[in-house]
Amino acid sequence: MSVADIYSWLEDNVVAEAVRGTPYLYPTLETIHIIGIALLAGPAAAFDLRLLGFGRRLLSVTVAADYLLPLARIGFAVAAVTGIAMFLPGANLIADRASAPWKLGLLIIAGLNIALFHRRMYRNVAGWDLDRPPPGTARLAAVVSLASWSGVTLAGRLLAYT
Ligand code: HEM
Repeated sequence: MSVADIYSWLEDNVVAEAVRGTPYLYPTLETIHIIGIALLAGPAAAFDLRLLGFGRRLLSVTVAADYLLPLARIGFAVAAVTGIAMFLPGANLIADRASAPWKLGLLIIAGLNIALFHRRMYRNVAGWDLDRPPPGTARLAAVVSLASWSGVTLAGRLLAYT
């Protein structure tokens, strides 16, 4: 079975049929995808800015994480579910676009960056929670996060063109 066969099989499943055959479902999914992106990218960027030192006298990193990161996780889940639903009906066509590997690769980089941040830098947060500049590694994670989510957004938009 080739990769193209897998995409063709994805295009024939019940969700793909429903997205193809239901008027206005695709633009509705696109709209919800964008709401999910806002819920992901907004709080993630606010947390990244706090990691870069903005507002460090006003707000602790742990409070910022507790408020912002659950919202970002919900946003990612919404974007992922709607993204997969939009991918299925045109799997062969979409996977073939030049921007597709960029979007997937940047999603993987963003995910690895989150895992590394929580396993390494965030463990020592007590030392720089409030009123202290975050360490260089945490600031680097913030820059990678801002760049990778911006890149995923750009690659997502480009999916419609190339
Ligand atoms: C996690 C799984 C995801 C999948 C499978 C996915 C898949 C898709 C698909 C199939 C499209 C429609 C492309 C077209 O119009 O032909 C799309 C659009 C888009 N995606 Fe995603 N996506 C995902 C997550 C994300 C995330 C996390 C972001 C941003 C942080 C994002 C940003 C965008 C943008 C900006 C668009 C264009 C929306 C528009 O102009 O209507 N996607 N995505």
